[in-house]
Amino acid sequence: MTVGAAPKGPVGVGLIGAGVISAQYLSNLTTFPDLEVRFVADIDLERAKSRAEEFGVAASGTVEQLLADDGIDIVVNLTLPSMHAEVDLAILAAGKHVWSEKPIATTAEDARRVLDAAAEAGLRVAVAPDTVLGAGLQTAFRAIADGRIGAPQTAITQVLNPGPDRWHPAPEFLFQAGGGPLLDLGPYYLSTLITVFGPVRRVSAVGSIARPERTVESGPRAGTTFEVTVPTYSALLIEFEGGTSAQATFSFQSALPRAGSFEITGTDGVIVLPDPNVFDGESELWTVASWTGVTGHDRPDPESIEAVGASTGRGLGVLELARAIAAGVPERASGALAAHVLDVMLAAAEASETGTTVAVTSTVSAPEPLPAGWDPTERTLA
Ligand SMILES: NC(=O)c1ccc[n+]([C@@H]2O[C@H](COP(=O)([O-])OP(=O)(O)OC[C@H]3O[C@@H](n4cnc5c(N)ncnc54)[C@H](O)[C@@H]3O)[C@@H](O)[C@H]2O)c1
Repeated sequence: MTVGAAPKGPVGVGLIGAGVISAQYLSNLTTFPDLEVRFVADIDLERAKSRAEEFGVAASGTVEQLLADDGIDIVVNLTLPSMHAEVDLAILAAGKHVWSEKPIATTAEDARRVLDAAAEAGLRVAVAPDTVLGAGLQTAFRAIADGRIGAPQTAITQVLNPGPDRWHPAPEFLFQAGGGPLLDLGPYYLSTLITVFGPVRRVSAVGSIARPERTVESGPRAGTTFEVTVPTYSALLIEFEGGTSAQATFSFQSALPRAGSFEITGTDGVIVLPDPNVFDGESELWTVASWTGVTGHDRPDPESIEAVGASTGRGLGVLELARAIAAGVPERASGALAAHVLDVMLAAAEASETGTTVAVTSTVSAPEPLPAGWDPTERTLA
Protein backbone atom coordinates (compact mmCIF):
# COMPACT_ATOMS: atom_id res chain seq x y z
CA MET A 1 0.00 0.00 0.00
CA THR A 2 1.21 3.50 -0.76
CA VAL A 3 1.88 5.30 2.51
CA GLY A 4 -1.07 7.52 3.40
CA ALA A 5 -3.37 6.10 0.68
CA ALA A 6 -6.65 4.46 1.66
CA PRO A 7 -6.52 0.66 1.21
CA LYS A 8 -8.94 -1.02 -1.20
CA GLY A 9 -10.53 -4.34 -0.34
CA PRO A 10 -9.53 -6.37 2.70
CA VAL A 11 -6.36 -5.10 4.32
CA GLY A 12 -3.46 -7.58 4.26
CA VAL A 13 -2.27 -8.56 7.73
CA GLY A 14 0.87 -10.41 8.81
CA LEU A 15 1.48 -11.77 12.29
CA ILE A 16 4.85 -12.08 14.03
CA GLY A 17 5.06 -14.35 17.09
CA ALA A 18 3.09 -17.60 16.90
CA GLY A 19 3.01 -18.26 20.64
CA VAL A 20 0.20 -18.68 23.18
CA ILE A 21 -1.84 -15.56 22.37
CA SER A 22 -1.56 -15.88 18.59
CA ALA A 23 -4.36 -18.49 18.61
CA GLN A 24 -6.89 -16.01 20.02
CA TYR A 25 -5.78 -13.33 17.55
CA LEU A 26 -5.90 -15.65 14.54
CA SER A 27 -9.27 -17.14 15.41
CA ASN A 28 -10.75 -13.60 15.35
CA LEU A 29 -8.67 -11.87 12.65
CA THR A 30 -9.48 -14.61 10.15
CA THR A 31 -13.23 -13.89 10.56
CA PHE A 32 -13.24 -10.13 9.86
CA PRO A 33 -14.24 -9.41 6.23
CA ASP A 34 -12.21 -6.17 6.25
CA LEU A 35 -8.96 -8.05 6.97
CA GLU A 36 -7.09 -10.89 5.34
CA VAL A 37 -4.33 -12.62 7.31
CA ARG A 38 -1.65 -13.53 4.76
CA PHE A 39 1.45 -14.59 6.71
CA VAL A 40 2.52 -15.96 10.10
CA ALA A 41 6.19 -15.54 11.10
CA ASP A 42 8.22 -16.67 14.09
CA ILE A 43 11.86 -17.36 14.87
CA ASP A 44 10.56 -20.88 15.44
CA LEU A 45 9.58 -21.75 11.84
CA GLU A 46 7.74 -24.95 12.80
CA ARG A 47 5.58 -23.02 15.24
CA ALA A 48 4.76 -20.43 12.57
CA LYS A 49 3.89 -23.15 10.08
CA SER A 50 1.60 -25.06 12.39
CA ARG A 51 -0.25 -21.89 13.50
CA ALA A 52 -0.69 -20.86 9.83
CA GLU A 53 -2.06 -24.31 8.97
CA GLU A 54 -4.35 -24.35 12.01
CA PHE A 55 -6.05 -21.12 10.88
CA GLY A 56 -5.84 -21.56 7.10
CA VAL A 57 -3.29 -18.78 6.58
CA ALA A 58 -1.63 -19.16 3.17
CA ALA A 59 2.02 -18.50 4.11
CA SER A 60 4.46 -18.78 6.99
CA GLY A 61 8.18 -18.27 7.44
CA THR A 62 10.72 -15.80 8.72
CA VAL A 63 10.17 -12.20 9.80
CA GLU A 64 12.23 -11.05 6.80
CA GLN A 65 9.98 -12.96 4.39
CA LEU A 66 6.87 -11.46 5.99
CA LEU A 67 8.26 -7.94 5.80
CA ALA A 68 9.14 -8.40 2.12
CA ASP A 69 5.53 -9.32 1.26
CA ASP A 70 3.88 -6.41 -0.59
CA GLY A 71 0.42 -7.76 0.16
CA ILE A 72 0.79 -6.97 3.87
CA ASP A 73 -0.13 -3.52 5.18
CA ILE A 74 -0.49 -4.09 8.92
CA VAL A 75 1.81 -6.30 10.98
CA VAL A 76 0.63 -7.69 14.32
CA ASN A 77 3.57 -7.98 16.74
CA LEU A 78 2.97 -10.75 19.28
CA THR A 79 6.58 -11.23 20.35
CA LEU A 80 7.79 -10.76 23.93
CA PRO A 81 7.79 -7.30 25.58
CA SER A 82 11.60 -7.07 25.43
CA MET A 83 11.39 -7.54 21.62
CA HIS A 84 8.39 -5.28 20.88
CA ALA A 85 10.33 -2.09 20.03
CA GLU A 86 12.96 -3.82 17.90
CA VAL A 87 10.35 -5.73 15.90
CA ASP A 88 8.14 -2.61 15.56
CA LEU A 89 11.10 -0.63 14.17
CA ALA A 90 11.73 -3.38 11.57
CA ILE A 91 8.03 -3.36 10.59
CA LEU A 92 8.05 0.43 10.17
CA ALA A 93 11.31 0.29 8.21
CA ALA A 94 9.54 -2.08 5.80
CA GLY A 95 6.80 0.56 5.28
CA LYS A 96 4.05 -1.24 7.18
CA HIS A 97 1.72 -0.18 9.99
CA VAL A 98 2.06 -1.79 13.44
CA TRP A 99 -0.34 -3.38 15.88
CA SER A 100 1.72 -4.40 18.92
CA GLU A 101 0.85 -6.39 21.98
CA LYS A 102 1.41 -4.56 25.26
CA PRO A 103 3.48 -3.04 26.69
CA ILE A 104 4.58 -0.89 23.74
CA ALA A 105 8.20 -1.25 24.96
CA THR A 106 10.03 -1.79 28.22
CA THR A 107 11.68 1.65 28.34
CA ALA A 108 10.33 5.14 27.63
CA GLU A 109 13.23 5.72 25.20
CA ASP A 110 12.30 2.68 23.11
CA ALA A 111 8.64 3.72 23.02
CA ARG A 112 9.69 7.18 21.82
CA ARG A 113 11.94 5.68 19.10
CA VAL A 114 9.01 3.64 17.81
CA LEU A 115 6.59 6.59 17.78
CA ASP A 116 9.18 8.88 16.16
CA ALA A 117 9.96 6.30 13.45
CA ALA A 118 6.24 5.96 12.68
CA ALA A 119 5.70 9.72 12.53
CA GLU A 120 8.69 10.11 10.22
CA ALA A 121 7.43 7.39 7.87
CA GLY A 122 3.77 8.52 7.95
CA LEU A 123 2.77 5.13 9.41
CA ARG A 124 0.59 4.15 12.37
CA VAL A 125 1.48 2.33 15.59
CA ALA A 126 -1.46 1.03 17.58
CA VAL A 127 -1.08 -1.05 20.73
CA ALA A 128 -3.02 -3.47 22.91
CA PRO A 129 -5.13 -3.63 24.97
CA ASP A 130 -8.11 -3.67 22.63
CA THR A 131 -10.36 -4.86 25.45
CA VAL A 132 -11.08 -1.13 25.85
CA LEU A 133 -12.83 -1.35 22.45
CA GLY A 134 -15.01 -4.27 23.57
CA ALA A 135 -18.75 -3.98 24.18
CA GLY A 136 -18.43 -4.19 27.97
CA LEU A 137 -16.12 -1.23 28.53
CA GLN A 138 -17.45 0.82 25.59
CA THR A 139 -20.99 0.59 27.00
CA ALA A 140 -19.69 1.76 30.38
CA PHE A 141 -17.76 4.62 28.73
CA ARG A 142 -20.94 5.74 26.94
CA ALA A 143 -22.91 5.62 30.21
CA ILE A 144 -20.25 7.76 31.90
CA ALA A 145 -20.19 10.18 28.94
CA ASP A 146 -24.00 10.41 29.22
CA GLY A 147 -23.58 11.66 32.79
CA ARG A 148 -25.01 8.59 34.55
CA ILE A 149 -22.59 8.96 37.52
CA GLY A 150 -22.13 12.72 37.24
CA ALA A 151 -18.51 13.83 37.08
CA PRO A 152 -16.04 10.93 37.68
CA GLN A 153 -14.02 11.63 40.83
CA THR A 154 -12.25 8.47 42.01
CA ALA A 155 -11.70 4.83 41.02
CA ILE A 156 -10.65 1.62 42.71
CA THR A 157 -9.36 -1.31 40.68
CA GLN A 158 -7.58 -4.53 41.55
CA VAL A 159 -6.61 -7.80 39.94
CA LEU A 160 -5.03 -10.54 42.05
CA ASN A 161 -3.98 -14.08 41.14
CA PRO A 162 -1.25 -16.62 41.98
CA GLY A 163 0.65 -15.81 38.77
CA PRO A 164 0.97 -17.03 35.17
CA ASP A 165 3.69 -19.56 36.14
CA ARG A 166 0.70 -21.82 36.80
CA TRP A 167 -0.46 -21.92 33.18
CA HIS A 168 2.02 -20.31 30.74
CA PRO A 169 4.48 -22.80 29.18
CA ALA A 170 7.25 -20.15 29.06
CA PRO A 171 6.36 -17.69 31.86
CA GLU A 172 9.83 -16.26 32.61
CA PHE A 173 9.17 -13.01 30.69
CA LEU A 174 6.20 -12.29 32.94
CA PHE A 175 8.44 -12.20 36.04
CA GLN A 176 11.42 -10.28 34.68
CA ALA A 177 12.17 -6.78 33.29
CA GLY A 178 9.21 -5.74 31.15
CA GLY A 179 6.86 -8.03 33.10
CA GLY A 180 5.44 -8.43 36.57
CA PRO A 181 1.74 -7.77 37.10
CA LEU A 182 2.39 -4.02 36.76
CA LEU A 183 3.63 -4.15 33.13
CA ASP A 184 1.68 -7.28 32.15
CA LEU A 185 -1.76 -6.46 33.58
CA GLY A 186 -1.35 -2.73 34.20
CA PRO A 187 -2.07 -1.75 30.55
CA TYR A 188 -5.67 -3.07 30.73
CA TYR A 189 -6.57 -1.20 33.91
CA LEU A 190 -4.52 1.96 33.29
CA SER A 191 -5.79 2.37 29.70
CA THR A 192 -9.33 2.15 31.09
CA LEU A 193 -8.58 4.69 33.82
CA ILE A 194 -6.98 7.12 31.35
CA THR A 195 -9.89 6.74 28.93
CA VAL A 196 -12.25 7.92 31.69
CA PHE A 197 -10.10 10.35 33.70
CA GLY A 198 -7.58 11.59 31.12
CA PRO A 199 -3.80 11.66 31.49
CA VAL A 200 -1.90 10.96 34.71
CA ARG A 201 0.05 13.68 36.53
CA ARG A 202 1.83 11.69 39.25
CA VAL A 203 2.02 8.29 40.91
CA SER A 204 3.13 6.83 44.22
CA ALA A 205 3.39 3.10 44.78
CA VAL A 206 4.64 0.21 46.89
CA GLY A 207 5.78 -3.18 45.60
CA SER A 208 7.15 -6.50 46.79
CA ILE A 209 8.41 -9.91 45.68
CA ALA A 210 6.91 -12.75 47.72
CA ARG A 211 9.02 -15.57 46.23
CA PRO A 212 12.29 -14.76 44.41
CA GLU A 213 12.25 -18.11 42.60
CA ARG A 214 9.35 -19.66 40.69
CA THR A 215 8.79 -22.91 38.84
CA VAL A 216 7.22 -23.45 35.43
CA GLU A 217 4.11 -25.45 36.32
CA SER A 218 2.70 -26.49 32.94
CA GLY A 219 3.83 -27.59 29.48
CA PRO A 220 6.95 -29.47 28.36
CA ARG A 221 9.26 -27.38 30.58
CA ALA A 222 7.29 -28.01 33.80
CA GLY A 223 9.65 -28.21 36.79
CA THR A 224 12.14 -25.63 35.41
CA THR A 225 12.92 -22.96 38.01
CA PHE A 226 13.67 -19.31 37.25
CA GLU A 227 14.46 -16.07 39.04
CA VAL A 228 11.86 -13.38 39.76
CA THR A 229 13.47 -9.96 39.25
CA VAL A 230 10.51 -7.53 39.36
CA PRO A 231 7.77 -7.00 41.99
CA THR A 232 4.94 -9.51 41.89
CA TYR A 233 2.75 -7.09 43.88
CA SER A 234 2.27 -3.40 43.05
CA ALA A 235 -0.17 -0.98 44.67
CA LEU A 236 -0.51 2.45 43.08
CA LEU A 237 -2.01 5.79 44.08
CA ILE A 238 -2.64 7.76 40.89
CA GLU A 239 -3.43 11.44 40.45
CA PHE A 240 -4.76 12.62 37.08
CA GLU A 241 -4.02 15.96 35.45
CA GLY A 242 -7.59 17.07 36.15
CA GLY A 243 -7.12 16.53 39.92
CA THR A 244 -9.15 13.29 40.19
CA SER A 245 -7.52 10.14 41.56
CA ALA A 246 -7.51 6.35 41.59
CA GLN A 247 -5.98 3.40 43.39
CA ALA A 248 -4.89 0.25 41.56
CA THR A 249 -3.46 -3.05 42.87
CA PHE A 250 -1.86 -5.73 40.69
CA SER A 251 -0.70 -9.05 42.14
CA PHE A 252 0.83 -12.31 40.93
CA GLN A 253 1.26 -13.49 44.51
CA SER A 254 -2.24 -14.04 45.83
CA ALA A 255 -3.49 -17.54 46.63
CA LEU A 256 -6.98 -16.01 46.57
CA PRO A 257 -7.56 -15.12 42.89
CA ARG A 258 -9.77 -12.14 42.19
CA ALA A 259 -10.65 -11.30 38.59
CA GLY A 260 -10.18 -7.65 37.77
CA SER A 261 -12.64 -5.42 39.61
CA PHE A 262 -13.09 -1.83 38.57
CA GLU A 263 -15.39 0.79 40.05
CA ILE A 264 -15.68 4.49 39.39
CA THR A 265 -17.31 6.92 41.76
CA GLY A 266 -18.76 10.11 40.38
CA THR A 267 -20.56 13.06 41.92
CA ASP A 268 -23.97 11.38 41.38
CA GLY A 269 -23.28 7.65 41.53
CA VAL A 270 -20.98 4.66 41.17
CA ILE A 271 -20.48 2.44 38.13
CA VAL A 272 -18.92 -1.02 38.38
CA LEU A 273 -17.34 -1.92 35.06
CA PRO A 274 -16.70 -5.41 33.69
CA ASP A 275 -13.10 -6.64 34.08
CA PRO A 276 -10.96 -4.51 31.70
CA ASN A 277 -9.09 -7.71 30.74
CA VAL A 278 -12.18 -9.02 28.91
CA PHE A 279 -14.27 -7.72 26.02
CA ASP A 280 -17.79 -8.26 27.31
CA GLY A 281 -19.86 -8.06 30.50
CA GLU A 282 -22.52 -5.84 31.96
CA SER A 283 -21.96 -2.80 34.15
CA GLU A 284 -23.81 -2.04 37.37
CA LEU A 285 -24.92 1.40 38.39
CA TRP A 286 -25.77 2.79 41.82
CA THR A 287 -26.96 6.38 41.86
CA VAL A 288 -27.16 8.68 44.85
CA ALA A 289 -30.84 9.21 43.92
CA SER A 290 -31.54 5.46 44.27
CA TRP A 291 -30.87 5.72 48.03
CA THR A 292 -33.92 7.94 48.54
CA GLY A 293 -36.26 6.17 50.96
CA VAL A 294 -33.80 3.32 51.72
CA THR A 295 -33.47 2.92 55.47
CA GLY A 296 -31.24 1.25 58.05
CA HIS A 297 -28.74 -1.28 56.71
CA ASP A 298 -30.66 -1.86 53.45
CA ARG A 299 -29.16 -0.88 50.16
CA PRO A 300 -30.79 -0.33 46.80
CA ASP A 301 -30.33 -2.87 44.02
CA PRO A 302 -28.04 -1.70 41.23
CA GLU A 303 -29.27 -0.97 37.73
CA SER A 304 -27.74 -3.44 35.25
CA ILE A 305 -26.45 -1.96 32.03
CA GLU A 306 -26.22 -4.63 29.35
CA ALA A 307 -23.20 -4.48 27.03
CA VAL A 308 -23.96 -3.27 23.52
CA GLY A 309 -21.40 -3.56 20.74
CA ALA A 310 -18.66 -5.87 19.52
CA SER A 311 -17.17 -8.44 21.87
CA THR A 312 -15.32 -10.63 19.39
CA GLY A 313 -12.05 -10.57 21.33
CA ARG A 314 -8.38 -9.89 20.66
CA GLY A 315 -7.88 -8.46 17.20
CA LEU A 316 -10.67 -5.85 17.38
CA GLY A 317 -7.97 -3.20 17.67
CA VAL A 318 -6.28 -4.38 14.47
CA LEU A 319 -9.59 -3.99 12.65
CA GLU A 320 -10.24 -0.56 14.20
CA LEU A 321 -6.72 0.45 13.09
CA ALA A 322 -7.35 -0.73 9.51
CA ARG A 323 -10.64 1.17 9.34
CA ALA A 324 -9.09 4.30 10.89
CA ILE A 325 -6.30 4.25 8.30
CA ALA A 326 -8.85 3.90 5.49
CA ALA A 327 -10.97 6.73 6.90
CA GLY A 328 -7.95 8.97 7.58
CA VAL A 329 -8.90 9.38 11.26
CA PRO A 330 -6.84 8.56 14.39
CA GLU A 331 -7.00 5.01 15.73
CA ARG A 332 -8.34 4.70 19.30
CA ALA A 333 -5.78 2.26 20.79
CA SER A 334 -3.01 4.65 19.82
CA GLY A 335 0.72 4.29 20.35
CA ALA A 336 0.61 7.64 22.17
CA LEU A 337 -1.87 6.22 24.70
CA ALA A 338 0.30 3.11 25.13
CA ALA A 339 3.43 5.25 25.61
CA HIS A 340 1.66 7.29 28.30
CA VAL A 341 0.49 4.07 29.99
CA LEU A 342 4.11 2.83 29.91
CA ASP A 343 5.29 6.11 31.46
CA VAL A 344 2.75 5.67 34.27
CA MET A 345 3.91 2.09 34.91
CA LEU A 346 7.60 3.07 34.88
CA ALA A 347 6.81 5.99 37.22
CA ALA A 348 5.05 3.54 39.56
CA ALA A 349 8.06 1.17 39.47
CA GLU A 350 10.38 4.08 40.30
CA ALA A 351 8.03 5.36 43.02
CA SER A 352 7.98 2.00 44.76
CA GLU A 353 11.77 1.64 44.53
CA THR A 354 12.53 5.13 45.82
CA GLY A 355 9.62 5.69 48.20
CA THR A 356 8.73 8.93 46.42
CA THR A 357 5.89 10.32 44.33
CA VAL A 358 6.97 10.39 40.67
CA ALA A 359 5.69 12.90 38.11
CA VAL A 360 4.58 11.65 34.68
CA THR A 361 5.75 14.12 32.09
CA SER A 362 3.99 12.79 28.97
CA THR A 363 0.35 13.45 28.25
CA VAL A 364 -2.32 12.15 25.88
CA SER A 365 -5.93 12.79 24.86
CA ALA A 366 -8.46 10.15 25.90
CA PRO A 367 -9.99 8.37 22.87
CA GLU A 368 -13.67 8.89 21.97
CA PRO A 369 -16.09 6.00 22.62
CA LEU A 370 -16.85 3.78 19.61
CA PRO A 371 -20.32 4.21 18.08
CA ALA A 372 -22.66 1.55 19.53
CA GLY A 373 -23.30 0.14 16.04
CA TRP A 374 -19.62 -0.42 15.18
CA ASP A 375 -19.67 -3.91 13.67
CA PRO A 376 -16.58 -6.06 13.03
CA THR A 377 -18.57 -8.52 10.92
CA GLU A 378 -19.46 -5.85 8.35
CA ARG A 379 -17.44 -5.44 5.13
CA THR A 380 -16.66 -1.72 4.96
CA LEU A 381 -13.42 -1.56 2.97
CA ALA A 382 -14.37 -3.37 -0.23
N1 LIG B 1 -0.47 -15.31 26.80
C1 LIG B 1 -1.47 -14.49 27.06
O1 LIG B 1 -2.52 -14.87 27.64
C2 LIG B 1 -1.41 -13.06 26.61
C3 LIG B 1 -2.56 -12.30 26.74
C4 LIG B 1 -2.54 -10.98 26.30
C5 LIG B 1 -1.38 -10.46 25.79
N2 LIG B 1 -0.25 -11.20 25.71
C6 LIG B 1 0.96 -10.57 25.16
O2 LIG B 1 1.28 -11.18 23.92
C7 LIG B 1 2.69 -11.22 23.72
C8 LIG B 1 3.11 -12.65 23.47
O3 LIG B 1 2.74 -13.43 24.57
P1 LIG B 1 2.62 -15.02 24.47
O4 LIG B 1 2.03 -15.46 25.75
O5 LIG B 1 1.99 -15.38 23.18
O6 LIG B 1 4.18 -15.39 24.45
P2 LIG B 1 4.85 -16.73 23.90
O7 LIG B 1 6.17 -16.86 24.57
O8 LIG B 1 3.89 -17.86 24.01
O9 LIG B 1 5.03 -16.44 22.35
C9 LIG B 1 5.94 -15.49 21.85
C10 LIG B 1 6.37 -15.95 20.45
O10 LIG B 1 7.18 -14.93 19.85
C11 LIG B 1 8.28 -15.55 19.19
N3 LIG B 1 9.35 -14.55 19.08
C12 LIG B 1 10.05 -14.00 20.09
N4 LIG B 1 10.90 -13.07 19.59
C13 LIG B 1 10.72 -13.06 18.24
C14 LIG B 1 11.31 -12.32 17.19
N5 LIG B 1 12.25 -11.41 17.41
N6 LIG B 1 10.86 -12.55 15.93
C15 LIG B 1 9.91 -13.47 15.68
N7 LIG B 1 9.32 -14.21 16.64
C16 LIG B 1 9.72 -13.99 17.92
C17 LIG B 1 8.61 -16.74 20.06
O11 LIG B 1 9.34 -17.72 19.33
C18 LIG B 1 7.21 -17.23 20.48
O12 LIG B 1 6.68 -18.17 19.56
C19 LIG B 1 3.30 -10.58 24.98
O13 LIG B 1 3.54 -9.24 24.75
C20 LIG B 1 2.19 -10.71 26.02
O14 LIG B 1 2.25 -9.68 26.98
C21 LIG B 1 -0.25 -12.51 26.08
